[in-house]
Amino acid sequence: MADFDLLIRGGTCVTAADTFRADVAIRGGRIVATGENLGSADKVIDASGMLVMPGGIDSHVHLAQHSAPGTPQMADGFESGTRSAIAGGTTTVLSFAVQPRGAGLRESVMAYHGKAEGQSFCDYGFHLIITDPSPNVLGQELPSLVGDGYTSFKVFMTYDDMVLNDRQLLDVFDCARGCGALVMVHCEGYDAIRYMTEKLERAGKTAPYYHGESRPQVVEREAAHRAISHAELVDVPIMIVHVSGREAMEQIRWAQQKGLKVYGETCTQYIALTAEDMKGFNMDETGGKYVCSPPPRDRASWDAIWEGIRGGVFQTFSSDHCPFFWEGTEGKQNPKAKTSFRWVPNGIPGVENRMQVFFSKGVSEGRISLNEFVALTSTNHAKMYGLYPRKGSIAPGFDADIVLWDANREETISQSLMHHAADYTPYEGLRVKGWPVMTLLGGKVVCDDGRILGRPGDGHFLPRALSPFAGPSARQR
Ligand code: URP
Ligand code: ZN
Ligand code: ZN
Ligand code: ZN
Repeated sequence: MADFDLLIRGGTCVTAADTFRADVAIRGGRIVATGENLGSADKVIDASGMLVMPGGIDSHVHLAQHSAPGTPQMADGFESGTRSAIAGGTTTVLSFAVQPRGAGLRESVMAYHGKAEGQSFCDYGFHLIITDPSPNVLGQELPSLVGDGYTSFKVFMTYDDMVLNDRQLLDVFDCARGCGALVMVHCEGYDAIRYMTEKLERAGKTAPYYHGESRPQVVEREAAHRAISHAELVDVPIMIVHVSGREAMEQIRWAQQKGLKVYGETCTQYIALTAEDMKGFNMDETGGKYVCSPPPRDRASWDAIWEGIRGGVFQTFSSDHCPFFWEGTEGKQNPKAKTSFRWVPNGIPGVENRMQVFFSKGVSEGRISLNEFVALTSTNHAKMYGLYPRKGSIAPGFDADIVLWDANREETISQSLMHHAADYTPYEGLRVKGWPVMTLLGGKVVCDDGRILGRPGDGHFLPRALSPFAGPSARQR
């Protein structure tokens, strides 16, 4: 009998805190030891020259998400979306379970379990999107679901089928405070966007490029400030997600400097795409491919986002993977979308590219350390969303979710390398340095140099603990 199931030998381990040469011993799906001369193993992986990092945790992905009737459906379900995740070195995704208006929350969540069960290549959990905060949802369903491990919500300040008014936001915040749940807030002002959209359309400015002009940074900043103010009033922590540039970043920094528990997330598109990419149907061919919300801004915004990353304003770096097909009448080029940007489905794929792009622009170009990379792509997601200390580090007791990373390998991102079901990548042609070469889930090799070895159903649902970052402040607890 060997001492261990698996030994990863000769690599450089990286955690959010440390970088150290060590072998990693795995038994029963967990890391049981790190160090030298640990013992014998049934299988040995040679990791010399490689970084050994905790598998990525992407706390913001949309898979198999219900779209409004008559609108294009999402390109990735759990099978293809999580296949793409493991190929990119990500071993846990937190996806969204949407409550369609008028529906119960628990029945909505169960519908998403039905879509994920037996399909997922990686571990997964659900945030609850609350679109209809009825007394029953707030008083009964949410407290019960939080107790069952759905410990985070998302609320929207825009989108016809999801927007909450200020009173509803306050009620959800109050409920989250009571339950100890963490609320993610999509900060863009609904009325401001409608006003701008109608004005642009009247002027005949309907190409995808104007999606960006319909929701400029001031729209995001105003909503961020409003969300922060409401959270302060209620005394509840919030996470402002998918921050696109300086304006919203500075609101979060201001709140943090006041001592408020306001957290921030940013995403790949805000360090790698710009509004210019959205020059759409009537300007060049491909603009709709890049339509997402908040929209990509400009290169000065990339710098602002890096300022926020390096300054600790942002805790998590996510993909906001929200894929739609490009080709076909059910895709981003659907016939209605050609009449106005307002009908281009919002969202882009990217779960596979998140760590590649962030490593390349972050670590390889010298903007952040290896340890910051691990914190922002894995550890902090586990901590914020109640998965720590099971996920998010290389240490005894943690799940053996590991990515072996070649810091020197250069690749050009292209659709031909992707494992998602979407028919394009918005990062096509982007040259990166640093690449995932092997992904392990629970000690099993699930992806080896782009070759998928795992199976649908390898990944399991993760009920989550309360976030230590949620709940009321000590002052009023
Ligand atoms: O455009 C985007 N990001 N669509 C996904 C939905 C959301 O708001 O996160
Ligand atoms: Zn959002
Ligand atoms: Zn999203
Ligand atoms: Zn199973």
